[in-house]
Amino acid sequence: MILISEPAGSGLQGEITPPGDKSISHRALIFSSLAAGRSELSGLLESEDTLATLRACEQLGAVVERGPESIFVTGTGGNFKPPSNGLLDMGNSGTAMRLLAGILCGQNFDSTLSGDESLNSRPMRRIIVPLTQMGADISSSKDGTAPLKIRSCSGLKGIEYVSPVASAQIKSCVLLAGLFASGTTRVKEPHLSRDHTERMLPIFGVELPSPCSVEGGSRLKACRFAVPADISSAVFALAAAAMTPGSDVLLRQVGLNPTRTGFLRCLEAMGADLSITDRSAQSTEPVGDVRLVFNAALKAIDIPESLVPDMIDELPLLMALAVTASGVTRIRGAAELRVKESDRIAVMAAGLRDLGVELQEYPDGIDIKGGRISGGHVESAGDHRCAMSFAVLGLVASTRILIDDAEFIATSYPGFSNDMRRLGANMQLVKKP
Ligand code: S3P
Repeated sequence: MILISEPAGSGLQGEITPPGDKSISHRALIFSSLAAGRSELSGLLESEDTLATLRACEQLGAVVERGPESIFVTGTGGNFKPPSNGLLDMGNSGTAMRLLAGILCGQNFDSTLSGDESLNSRPMRRIIVPLTQMGADISSSKDGTAPLKIRSCSGLKGIEYVSPVASAQIKSCVLLAGLFASGTTRVKEPHLSRDHTERMLPIFGVELPSPCSVEGGSRLKACRFAVPADISSAVFALAAAAMTPGSDVLLRQVGLNPTRTGFLRCLEAMGADLSITDRSAQSTEPVGDVRLVFNAALKAIDIPESLVPDMIDELPLLMALAVTASGVTRIRGAAELRVKESDRIAVMAAGLRDLGVELQEYPDGIDIKGGRISGGHVESAGDHRCAMSFAVLGLVASTRILIDDAEFIATSYPGFSNDMRRLGANMQLVKKP
């Protein structure tokens, strides 16, 4: 599919509630599938990624029923059941693969985790190393990529793992394996990554003995859980409003976990008029309504490296936003972007160059000079967040932008072009001729 994004005739106006948070939805499905009893999950994201997790959870023995407002999951009560053919297809989702790998390493059956071309080229040694230290029998291709073959386990042992990268997927993988290990498992990371696992486990009845640790043998219990709207989806409308004169948009009940709000802090530092009202909490997560009113062109900034983990998924969009700011925006310390659904530095740099943007690529970041942007045809390389970032830029380009591989947007935000149209943007998803 191709997404066609036309220059905006006027500012974006109106309000939307973005879809449920992807990271939290994966965890809600996985945790309720492990739990004893029937959980009620509301606000769950139904996208390609989370549906892959849901299907895997069903294969592993969970029973999923759909209600009008929520999804009910009857869990397996402690251990998963072997999937009928042993193979679990995680599609495009790194979170699903890495979190489930941790749990499957502690089960008494063999399984294989595989995914699409992008997922099967992403680094998995980062989880194989700690899981092997715990006593797991897990192997990958010789390049350290999926398919991951996991063999029946005769007992894991708890470890203290010092992760070389701030990654919630590594942290969560090790902590979830720790539930099936003897003793305590603890993870230390160079910077706090998103902490949804640590916040959610207690709601599912697992108390953490100390921050970022679990006690082996802890078992999950069913609960009612509300998933907040995904800040990583909300940011597209916010960025579009920040770059389009005359805009005033309101994003309802967005998750505002401080490990995820780096992009909002950058928007403010760049001069955007952003305000948050109606703050409350949903299950374990802070939420609020986020309003953005266009005030003036943005100013370029140097993104502090310490903010990178708090906005890791928003950096492609920040690169798009930088094009509309006066001056040079600098991003460093973001080498992790090269091992996401695509090499996000390379894909954004190539697309932006094609649109006439001046930039300089670095191994761990990019410098982008603000200026005029022309229309054209760009490749999103099957990366949902790059595709949506280019789509937002279409609003301020001199002519329309056509984005290839736009079907991948359904990975995280199937209603993206509908929501953007509701705010007044002119975006159409069309079949590739
Ligand atoms: C996620 C963690 C992040 C993020 C990804 C979702 C999660 O990945 O980029 O989209 O749900 O735990 P890393 O843990 O690799 O940084």
